This record gives sequence, structure tokens and C-alpha cells, in this order.
Amino acid sequence: MKIKVLAVFGTRPEAIKMAPLVRLLKESREIKCTVAVTAQHREMLDQVLSLFNIIPEYDLDIMKERQSLSDITSAALKGLEKVICSSDPDIVLVHGDTTTTLAASLAAFYQQKRVGHVEAGLRTGNKWFPFPEEINRKLTGSLADIHFAPTRNAKENLIREGVEPEWIFVTGNTVIDALKTTVDERYVFSTPLLNVIDYKNKKVVLVTAHRRENFGQPLENICMAIRDLVEEFPEVEVIYPVHYNPSVRDTVFPILGDVEKVHLIDPLDTREMHNLINKSYFLLTDSGGLQEEAPALGKPVLVLRDVTERPEGVDAGTVRVVGTCREGIFKEAVKLLADESEYRKMSGAINPYGDGYASKRIYHAILYYFGLEQKRPQDFIYESTGCLKGERQFD
Ligand code: UD1
Ligand code: UDP
Repeated sequence: MKIKVLAVFGTRPEAIKMAPLVRLLKESREIKCTVAVTAQHREMLDQVLSLFNIIPEYDLDIMKERQSLSDITSAALKGLEKVICSSDPDIVLVHGDTTTTLAASLAAFYQQKRVGHVEAGLRTGNKWFPFPEEINRKLTGSLADIHFAPTRNAKENLIREGVEPEWIFVTGNTVIDALKTTVDERYVFSTPLLNVIDYKNKKVVLVTAHRRENFGQPLENICMAIRDLVEEFPEVEVIYPVHYNPSVRDTVFPILGDVEKVHLIDPLDTREMHNLINKSYFLLTDSGGLQEEAPALGKPVLVLRDVTERPEGVDAGTVRVVGTCREGIFKEAVKLLADESEYRKMSGAINPYGDGYASKRIYHAILYYFGLEQKRPQDFIYESTGCLKGERQFD
């Protein structure tokens, strides 16, 4: 009898990070993997599904324009009840900290199903930052039976909260598995603008900002700082793929829409995005995933938040948390643009988040949990030499 795994996700970052795992589980002889998407995101989710060739068995199609958190939670919870009853999984796999993640864990719990949490244990320790993700991941952690922590630090967070260490596996982050399949030094973009940018002679700053806690004044400050930068530095060119959320677009376009050398474009598909990171000079972002991807490609990241749940990049020196005040962002960006040695200090490729074998560790951990393997998979250990180009074999 195969172990029945139901993988549930709903947004772009969950899909990117679950894709390598789903592909591996679908190929497995011991596991039958079914995919349910809430489609909390629509276009941004579909971009990932088509890139990784994933056709979900269930699609709840819940996205609404300007959806509230309760809209997402209630629609996902209700829809997933039916999915879980009809697919009758042995374990429901969820990812990260979105509202889909929490609703799926709760739906599984209500049907008395086991929950596996991928990217478990990230914490800022502040209930409001990021909002609502810190609480989503804490509650999911309480509902989960098996925790796939990407780093040792994430495992320690879970132990501090009383989680049984036996059921925490340090796996690395599956985003590094995905990155290994998308980045190519000779990549040709399918977005024409990205092929005409002069990456050698310009300093391309890649921007993303979408977080709920940055809506309003903080996002306005971010946009004003970007304007200041292109005015001060003729060599700077900004590329900003703007999230489809109207609350983001309503702020960004009026401030930056007419600014020369600021390219506001639609969200890119993952392959385009990963290769654009690889060609950019540095990143300004409030995204979680980009804080993991950019260090692996040796790109400095200035984080547009007051706290981060990903301290590993900060400790290694590639990531700096700069807040959301206009002058503060400008000052930190100037350091990178005007001071070569500062730039070099931050741009060494490091990969504290994974070695490309996270999905494989998760797969073996599931077999171990269900008694199909006797040996516990070895934890991912970050080696400071580990980077995309020098990964070591898992087995
Ligand atoms: C969600 C997650 C956040 C994650 C982010 C990744 C929650 C509460 N938030 O935030 O943790 O970091 O995804 O991007 O789970 N929209 C579209 N098309 C799309 C996607 C979104 O039009 O493909 C618009 C819709 O109007 C939607 C709005 O964006 O109502 C907001 O989407 P939502 O998922 O609620 O919030 P995000 O900010 O995307
Ligand atoms: N991303 C993408 N296209 C874009 C912007 C981001 O494919 O236009 C990818 C990015 O490379 C990363 C993920 O989306 O893998 C991050 O998602 P997001 O910032 O939406 O969410 P977060 O990580 O903050 O939860």
C-alpha cells in the first residue's frame, strides 16, 4: 500500500517551493501524491504550475479581488474539507506561512489527518511582523506532526516552543532545489525589455515589495527612496515587477509610473525572475523567498522591513535589514552603489539555506515517519563553502 500524501498550496512562493518536492513525490514508488491548490493567487500561481508542469487534481479557485484574510480562510477551509474527505490522505503537506497554509493545516486537523509542515520554524518573535505570516506559521507549527525545518536555527525555534526534536528534520530550503533548475548563465529572457538592458555598464537594482504591513506610508517611502536613487545615480536602472494586488499597484504606479529608468513590469515567471536576480547588481525587497535566493547567487539584499525571520543571510553578511524609512533605504543603497569594498563584502555567494537536496530529505523523512525506512535522513548542515556551484552529493 502506498502512503497517500496530499500537497496543498495556494500562492506563488508556496508553489515555487513545493514544486521540486511534488515532482519527486509523484515519481516515487512508495508514495501516491495528490495536489490541491486553493488558488489564493490565480495568475501568479498558474505561472508556476505551468513552468513546473504541475496539474493539480483539485483547484478551489478561491481568489477574489482585494480578498480579506477571512475571505481566504473561510473559502479554503470549507473547500479543503471536501478535498480531504474525498482523497482521504495519510498526511497533508503544507508550506510556509500563508493563509492557505493555516487553513489547510486546520482543515486536516478537523478531519484528524496528520500534517507535515515544509519550511517550518521561521520566527521573528513579533506577532505583528510579518502580518499575518508570523501567526500563520506558529499556528501551523502547533497543528503539525512532522516539521521540515530549512535550517538549524529554525529547528531551535521549534524546540524552544516545545516541539519534539525527533519529528523535526533539518532539510535545507526547497527553493534552492528549484533554483538549481532555473538559473542559466546563457539564459535569454522571454520578456523583451530584459534582453535590452545593459547589465554590464548599468547597475540594475531589482525591486519587489508587496507585504501587507508595508501598505500605505511604508510602501510610499520605499517608492520615494527609489526615485531618489535614480535621480542621484545616472548608472542605476530599476526593474520592479509589481505584484497584482491593487493595494500595491495603487501606491506604486502614481509615484514611479513616469520615472525614467524605473521599469514597472508585471510579475515575472519564476525562470525569468531567477535569471534576472542573477544579472542584477543588488535587490531591494520585502519578500521572504528573495532573501534566500539572492545570497545563493551572490547578490546583496537590502530588506525593506524592520525584522526578518531569516537571520542566516544577515549573519553571513549578504543581507541587511534596512527598514522602510525613505532616508534609511537611500543611505544603505548609496553604500552599495558608491563603495566598491562595501559591495564586495556583501556579494560573496553563500548558501545557508540549502544544497539542492531538501526535497530528497523530506521524501526520506516521510518514509521514515511511516516506518518504510529504518534510518533517519541526515540533517542538512550549512557549510560556509556550500554554494550552487559547489554542492555536495546527498546520497
Ligand atoms: C500572499 C500571502 C503572503 C505571501 C504572498 C506571496 C497571505 C495572507 N498572504 O500575500 O504571505 O508572501 O502571498 O506573494 O496568505 N492578486 C491577483 N492575482 C494573483 C495574485 C494576487 O490579482 O495572481 C491580487 C488579488 O486582488 C488579491 C490580492 O492580490 O485579492 C492579494 O492577494 P493575497 O493572496 O490576499 O495577498 P498577497 O499580498 O499576495
Ligand atoms: N518571484 C517571481 N516573479 C516575480 C517576483 C517574485 O517568480 O515577479 C518569485 C521569487 O523569485 C521568489 C518568490 O517569487 O521565489 C517570492 O514570492 P513573494 O515575494 O511573492 O512571496 P514571499 O517569499 O515574500 O512569501
